[in-house]
Amino acid sequence: MEKNEWMEQITDIVRACGEIILQADRGKGCIDEKAGHANFVTTYDRKVQQELQGRLLEILPGAVFVGEEEDRHAAVAEGYAFIVDPIDGTTNFIKDYHMSAISVGLARDGERYMGVVYNPYLNEMFTAVKGQGAYLNGEPIHVSSEPLSNGVVLFGTAPYYEELNRRSFEMAYDYFKRALDVRRSGSAALDLCSVAAGRAELFFELRLCPWDFAAGSLIVEEAGGKVTTAEGGALSLNMPCSVIATNGLE
Ligand code: IPD
Ligand code: CA
Ligand code: CA
Repeated sequence: MEKNEWMEQITDIVRACGEIILQADRGKGCIDEKAGHANFVTTYDRKVQQELQGRLLEILPGAVFVGEEEDRHAAVAEGYAFIVDPIDGTTNFIKDYHMSAISVGLARDGERYMGVVYNPYLNEMFTAVKGQGAYLNGEPIHVSSEPLSNGVVLFGTAPYYEELNRRSFEMAYDYFKRALDVRRSGSAALDLCSVAAGRAELFFELRLCPWDFAAGSLIVEEAGGKVTTAEGGALSLNMPCSVIATNGLE
């Protein structure tokens, strides 16, 4: 089937790009600063993105390509669009913390259609196609059926948006009191996959960009979970928004 052939090709490309991350020579010379608190880009973010762009567009030559490290981001509207974060968890990558992922979303006519999130350190490949379930290394995954009171809550600190930092920690404190504990991994894409795989019950972050969640949010939904903005609305693939992903029991 056409779409599964694409999935195989996309996962092959993503796995090959994972090797670039694993083999990286992470010296100070490869790091540049971007706008916002502690916001960095490395030569490897750029290298992985360039590789993804070239190879993904060979599969779908007419597709729009939106990659985090581009200067200007194309709009996601009609037709196919790849929405890509070459390294989600760049600070972790710089620190050699082994908690980073390549995230590739594919939208069709403005709707999330396919998602691939790969953690090369653990060789964990999370995948989903709209309406066809979610998988980890080819095995079906499902969100947990634990209530929040018996759950683990993941959160992102919205690190690049100072005005949201305090509220993020206040919300985390609130969830901490209602759940077993909280975690902060440093990769929103992997946090979403952790909810999808039933390793955590809820993830929230008060501002993320489409490349952070395009793939992971579909993986959560296909694993039986629910993803909305903090206000309960639909996520946008064209602008930053807040994200709350749950196992559907909240
Ligand atoms: C970041 C990570 C982090 C989240 C930030 C993201 P980056 O992505 O997902 O966990 O808290 O909001 O921007 O910058 O490492 O690609
Ligand atoms: Ca990211
Ligand atoms: Ca990134």
